[in-house]
Amino acid sequence: MKRAILVLHGPNLNLLGSREPEVYGRLTLAQVDREIKRYGQARGVRVECLQSNHEGELIEALQTASRKGFSAIVFNPGAFTHYSIALRDAVSAISLPVIEVHLSNVHAREEFRRHSVIAPAARGQISGFGLRSYLLGIDAALGALGSHRESRGGRR
Ligand code: DQA
Repeated sequence: MKRAILVLHGPNLNLLGSREPEVYGRLTLAQVDREIKRYGQARGVRVECLQSNHEGELIEALQTASRKGFSAIVFNPGAFTHYSIALRDAVSAISLPVIEVHLSNVHAREEFRRHSVIAPAARGQISGFGLRSYLLGIDAALGALGSHRESRGGRR
């Protein structure tokens, strides 16, 4: 069966295209999702994308991903990155590799964005490359799946 990766977008990412385009770019979420899926397809992996403004829905998506046949998750938690212990616990609770991604370089922005409560539970973090952050996230997810040894190189 073809492997599948879940791409999860957190709050306000539905507004991509019109939301602070100087920070997040001019691509809409639909365009971003299309590019991510195309990228995955070219690498032999099925990609499904889901956006939610609700913490609980994101938690459900993380908890049920394995049951639904996904083998890895590329996750942009949006502002939840900086304070959602519930999402961090969900990432810790599941056995799938989770790659944290951000469109903007969170380390070059306001002080409060420099801290991610998710990152210690994730396999790694990619930040600052716009759409490419997600594509690099797909590569990282495939790397984590492709080589067990590589996937054990980090904490989880
Ligand atoms: C973001 C960065 C977060 O700080 C912000 O709250 C977002 C988007 C990014 O992709 O750059 O909503 O996750």
